[in-house]
Amino acid sequence: MLPKETLAGQTVLITGGGTGIGKGIAVEAARLGANIVIASRKREHLDPAAQELQDLGAKVLALTLDVRDPDAVAQVFDTAVQHFGRVDHVVNNAAGNFICPAEKLSVNGWRAVVGIVLDGTFYMSQTAGKYWIREGLRGTITNIVATYAWGAGPGVVHSASAKAGVLAMTRTLAVEWGPLGIRVNAIAPGPIEGTGAAPQLWPTEEDRQRVLRGVPLGRFGRVEEIAHAACYLMSPYADYISGECLTIDGAAWLNNRRFARD
Ligand code: HXC
Ligand code: NAP
Repeated sequence: MLPKETLAGQTVLITGGGTGIGKGIAVEAARLGANIVIASRKREHLDPAAQELQDLGAKVLALTLDVRDPDAVAQVFDTAVQHFGRVDHVVNNAAGNFICPAEKLSVNGWRAVVGIVLDGTFYMSQTAGKYWIREGLRGTITNIVATYAWGAGPGVVHSASAKAGVLAMTRTLAVEWGPLGIRVNAIAPGPIEGTGAAPQLWPTEEDRQRVLRGVPLGRFGRVEEIAHAACYLMSPYADYISGECLTIDGAAWLNNRRFARD
């Protein structure tokens, strides 16, 4: 979609960049010439992704990180700056999710998801913001949310609450840091095939078909479709876009079908 050298020489840091949508964004940013930092908890996710990115010709740093630990977030960011000279773009993509009725959700279950999604996004955003402000650099943050951030997420109250917070954070930081040249945007994907969401949210064929019936375009989304949008939002082509949330869901969130015939 974008010209090949669009992100040449720039550094993109992606949390949860070893799998699913995060890896897709890493691959596309690498294709556009960026240096890539991927950070998540598990070596078994990071190492194969790092190899794939290197095979594409990218310079890659793969660091273990639990985004719930603010000191570790700062350390990973510093390591990335030391390694590549600077960090230009952050993608807050790491997430946890599982289906659980709200009344049965344990305190630890709530904290796990809200800690990863909401706290982790703030720790990384604040670390990046402090760095760009201190160094007088421009930068972008792209947060991956979900359409239930502004609607309702029955069965996933932890994730919906956290994503709503991330959406508010996106808009707030876009305003607060706009005068400093920092752009902050979000993407709200619909159901995307081949990602970690599948085993958590539509584990059976019946679940899969039910999700599919809710999508007017009649198919799951593809990782590359999210990756193109993420790279566009960090690119100079989107230089006047900030505080925006781009929905890429085949019109699923609009689909209440209360009066429609099947
Ligand atoms: C009920 C559960 C549970 C489940 C975990 N818990 N899974 N409760 N149902 N299925 C509870 C545990 O019992 C524990 O509480 C608490 O949550 C923490 O669990 P841990 O396993 O110790 O947590 P941790 O190792 O930190 O793992 C985090 C995780 C896990 C979120 C629970 O699922 C994970 O690592 N997920 C990462 C990958 C992922 O989820 N990807 C999908 C993103 S998709 P107790 O009380 O027992 O101690 C997505 C899509 C959005 O976000 C929209 C789609 C359209
Ligand atoms: P995924 O493959 O499971 O990706 C989640 C990533 O987050 C994993 O790479 C995981 O790596 C990392 N992660 C989890 N906990 C972490 C922690 N504490 N610290 C650091 N990294 C952590 O799922 P995905 O579907 O691609 O999800 C990516 C993003 O898209 C998420 O924000 C999700 O909410 C959003 N989303 C997805 C869909 C969809 O249909 N797929 C729809 C809407 C929104 P480790 O296990 O190695 O830590």
